[in-house]
Amino acid sequence: MARAPYVSFRVRAPDPGRRTTAQDIVDTVVDDVRSGRLPAGSRLPPVRVLEQQLGLSKNTVQSAYDELVARGLLEGREREGIFVAYASIDTDVSVPRVAEPPAFRARPAPPLHAGSFPHGVMSLSAVFVDPELLPRERLSECARAVLHARGLETFYDVHGYGPLREIIAERLRARGMRDVRAANVLLTTGSQQALDVLGRTLAEPRVAIESPVYPGAKLLFESHGHVVTGLRLDPFAGIPLDEWEARLSAARPALLYAVTSYQNPTGYSYTSHELERVLELAERLGFAVAEDDWGSDMLSGSEYRPMLRLLGGAHVLYVNSFTKKLLPSLRVGFLVAHESLIPALLAAKRLSTLGNAWFSEAIVAEFLARAYYDTHLQSLQRELDARYQSCLGILREQMPEGVRWTLPGGGPTLWLEVPRRVNLARLRADLAERRIEIEAAESAFTGEPHLHGFRVSYAFVPPDRLSRALATVGDLLREALS
Ligand SMILES: Cc1ncc(COP(=O)(O)O)c(C=O)c1O
Repeated sequence: MARAPYVSFRVRAPDPGRRTTAQDIVDTVVDDVRSGRLPAGSRLPPVRVLEQQLGLSKNTVQSAYDELVARGLLEGREREGIFVAYASIDTDVSVPRVAEPPAFRARPAPPLHAGSFPHGVMSLSAVFVDPELLPRERLSECARAVLHARGLETFYDVHGYGPLREIIAERLRARGMRDVRAANVLLTTGSQQALDVLGRTLAEPRVAIESPVYPGAKLLFESHGHVVTGLRLDPFAGIPLDEWEARLSAARPALLYAVTSYQNPTGYSYTSHELERVLELAERLGFAVAEDDWGSDMLSGSEYRPMLRLLGGAHVLYVNSFTKKLLPSLRVGFLVAHESLIPALLAAKRLSTLGNAWFSEAIVAEFLARAYYDTHLQSLQRELDARYQSCLGILREQMPEGVRWTLPGGGPTLWLEVPRRVNLARLRADLAERRIEIEAAESAFTGEPHLHGFRVSYAFVPPDRLSRALATVGDLLREALS
């Protein structure tokens, strides 16, 4: 084992004229440890080195070190050397203090949900798929195969792992996007980085989004300094297209961001008529469209909806990700764009990350190449359909009058709309006491929320637990409404 490098170390003596003593060494080390100049874990020069540096006898240096070890400030580690003891941190050593507050001033943190929740708390609103439904074994098999076949790659490619881009392009062509080639596909760290890259690249900083919308998109565009225009989406009545037209005509955005299937957080899916009208508006008013298609792979087995990208061709930028379907921690997503945009998008991604983790991308490529993904999606869709039906049954049974919910037809989540009289913050707090979490949806809206409720995730919560949690929600709502 290579030894840790030792710190360079100058012994201070009160009288430079006289010879250094063991006490001088002790005093200097004590002083340096206390002041933080010698942090815990630093290796001190070996006795032999210090003895030569100071022109002292071996015994003098050794006795100083012995004394410091006895005081608990230093510790000897066999065959490694002598170190400032970690225990010294807990004694009377003061670490150099940073002025409060630090000179670095942070912008206010955007109110984005952390995506994780404390242990033992059940999240009713999580957008993830139940880990039990994820193909862990097959993913592990693919991870081993990647390492076995290729070993570790030395370089990264800002465009993303070539074989994965090839397979994604092939799959999209099979779904009707005939023009997509590997060169049009940019791999990203989840869809989030795809949105980030778009936000960084857009020349005119004006974006239109649905309201409510996935808050991570809204907050991201705002953090890039874009003017964000919200377009009201009513999941019970559909998209008020004339209202959208008026707002889009007035705001003149450069980009419309739309989640067309199982919209987050409402579960709404655009009708074909709405997709066509959006494209017609885009052409007439001259804005680009970014379609976030997190949902179409989770479509109910019996359903088909065209994607905007299919109807609008290369005018539509297309975003998708494996996060919610395969394994969240892989963080692999992608952006499909016209070839003229690729250099600018690559430059933005390079600035942001240089390149992404090759290993995750190679695992996904292997998973797709073995045709595991299709088998997995089929069983996922079947399970989501069954869970959706079961969730509807539970809601019909447990919810008091006046509570409504959207009917996504399948997919991962729906929206539960409660009467305005219910204080949502209070409901959240009461549920939190019972270790159930529902997400605060305020940051999903631009302006005053026109909906009053929260997302329910049957994809994440298994039916028996969902049933218990929704029974609790029902009880609390009855209480609030009585
Ligand atoms: C609609 C939508 N788009 C994008 C994202 C970001 O997902 P990813 O994990 O792929 O970055 C989310 C995450 O919840 C989402 O709901």
